Amino acid sequence: MEIIVQPDSQKASWLAAKLIKKIILEKPRPVIGLATGNTPLFLYKLLIKMYREGSLDFSRVVTFNLDEYVGLSPGHPSSYHHFMWENLFSQINIRPESVHFPNGLAADLQAHCQDYEQEIEKAGGIDIQVLGIGVNGHIGYNEPTSSLSSRTRIEILTEQTRKSNAVFFGSKDEVPFKAITMGIGTILEARICLLMAFGQKKARAVAQAVEGPLTAMVPASALQLHPQAIVLLDQDATTELKYLDYYKWVYDHKPEWQEY
Ligand code: F6R
Repeated sequence: MEIIVQPDSQKASWLAAKLIKKIILEKPRPVIGLATGNTPLFLYKLLIKMYREGSLDFSRVVTFNLDEYVGLSPGHPSSYHHFMWENLFSQINIRPESVHFPNGLAADLQAHCQDYEQEIEKAGGIDIQVLGIGVNGHIGYNEPTSSLSSRTRIEILTEQTRKSNAVFFGSKDEVPFKAITMGIGTILEARICLLMAFGQKKARAVAQAVEGPLTAMVPASALQLHPQAIVLLDQDATTELKYLDYYKWVYDHKPEWQEY
């Protein structure tokens, strides 16, 4: 795992945007895995800025979102489909047919989950997967106790997750109980995993994921198995890390990061 600490979430998002830009420029058909929620919002603003300035072209980019609520139509204002079009896709030149979401309204949800896996495979796999982390250590909607080799499937959300997500709805009661999520095994197949975590409230989950044991109770700890997992943090999210000085020292001595 590569742990990178930046003074604040905006600087951290800049680094994420530059890394994604590099991948988009390098690959003939870049495949990017995306997350919703508060964490990547500034990153998406930066990608839009790069597009508007003419330094980034999304016409060859293919995307797969991590998750979607079961039972919400794409047009629902709190669906992840709507979130992504609102905060990114409508403001860049991505082709609508290159954008993929789990469909929370699929008639056969199980079969749809398998189809989603196949779509990712057909696209050649995910080059970089953007991830946030829940306060309970979830990635995607793989809640604690999820199998570390799970695939795309329906997951029941914890009450804590529904509470955290209430800001995107009128109240917690309106947050669906179920979501389709890429599994941990699916996420681990991305060539790069980029986990971003900002703010004091993520500090405990970050420390458990990075320095704790590999355990299904902290799904993000599965990233310890990944050969190229980057954990991008602001200062506030680092307060429970024991080896913080070491991570900073490593970063300062890695010239390849300085080019970003
Ligand atoms: C969202 C997702 C979730 C969030 C996580 C953090 O697509 O997969 O795992 O990344 O719940 O949410 P925020 O960023 O709102 O704190």
